[in-house]
Amino acid sequence: MSAPDVLVIGGGIIGCAVAADAAERGLRVTVLERGRTGEEASWAAAGMLSPLAEAVGPGPFLDLLLEARERFPALAPRLRDATGIDIGYRDEGAIVLALRPEDDDVLNARLDWQRGSGLAVERLDAREVLEREPAVTDAVRWGLLYPGDHQVDARRLSRAFRVLAERRGAVVREGEEVREISIRGGRAIGVLLADGAREEGATVVVAGGAWSGRLHGLPRPLPLRPVHGQLAAVEHLPPLFRHIVTAAGIYAVPRADGRMVLGATEEECGFRKAVTPAGLARVLQGAAAISPLLGEAALTGFWSGLRPTTPDRLPVLGADPEVNGLLYATGHHRNGILLAPITGELIGAMAAGEEPALDLGPYGAGRFGDDPEPYC
Ligand code: FAD
Ligand code: GLY
Repeated sequence: MSAPDVLVIGGGIIGCAVAADAAERGLRVTVLERGRTGEEASWAAAGMLSPLAEAVGPGPFLDLLLEARERFPALAPRLRDATGIDIGYRDEGAIVLALRPEDDDVLNARLDWQRGSGLAVERLDAREVLEREPAVTDAVRWGLLYPGDHQVDARRLSRAFRVLAERRGAVVREGEEVREISIRGGRAIGVLLADGAREEGATVVVAGGAWSGRLHGLPRPLPLRPVHGQLAAVEHLPPLFRHIVTAAGIYAVPRADGRMVLGATEEECGFRKAVTPAGLARVLQGAAAISPLLGEAALTGFWSGLRPTTPDRLPVLGADPEVNGLLYATGHHRNGILLAPITGELIGAMAAGEEPALDLGPYGAGRFGDDPEPYC
């Protein structure tokens, strides 16, 4: 069999989205996944499409997140038609609560810059919060409503991209660990697998999530580190909330079936994925502070995942500055579900030899220098 045009390293949501797009452009694509597709960060994610409720500030990255969010209303029915998978897209919006006096400054500052930038945000007083979400604690002081911050079921979306990629002819190989990227004469020519086999490909895409920086043969250090997030799920019927509700960095994401995903910690402890009593306690206490009813709901599970994170918390997207045929699609940190469709489009187009439709300057692999700060 002839070599594929594109080898994608990693079958998380990002690798599968890139594969789906590249295959649609007529390229022969192989995804190499060392475990099973979509079972790492993409499986752990809460599924928020939250550029504003989680925003750090204005700038090109916020613009990218907002543009990414625009994809979902049309994507959901398209994926259902193409794959039979309902990605659980819900558009009720998100509410960020001020529960403690010290939340006031943080939320006020956010309201100022977001209003100043003309973004869709609304200040709610306590009564207005409780009108929209009566299960919220009556200790709520006030809140911010983001009508445009939506959600999907991240596991279903990952699965949908994989199915879409395969229906378009991509080959997905599970249990295939890539050890090294092979480069000859300034161009990527394929990869070396952990079992010693070589795979050729005209374009190699690095989409290995938090593990991307561990690949051998990278032309420069890729300082990705795993940022551990622990989550839990509770069940309550009828569902307690319609909106995503967050306070003091903890969120509650309501699913239609009465399940509520609660998250998440942000911890830097290497590649350890253990769910710990201390981590879980932080999430559950934060959730009970949002709503006493959440504190009384039936706990149905807990899990965790590793966010792929760079020192500046921005993704790495686009072509290697020196090696031809080497593309990056990694480092999506807290926003990989939201960014998956647009990443697929951008990197799929580049694999087909097109210029990216957006300026990927802020996301270049060369921005860290040759000696980036070490990480744990
Ligand atoms: P992963 O899903 O981790 O996939 C990488 C894949 O590469 C893995 O399957 C791995 O096995 C494979 N791999 C690695 N190395 C190799 C190798 N050498 N050879 C072969 N395969 C390899 N984002 C949002 O937008 N909204 C959210 O609400 C949200 N919530 C989150 C909550 C938590 C707790 C966490 C942890 C993340 C959350 N995220 C969220 C972020 C999002 O989950 C990630 O940014 C996204 O899943 C990254 O996708 P990925 O495909 O790059 O990584
Ligand atoms: N975006 C939610 C999280 O990363 O926890």
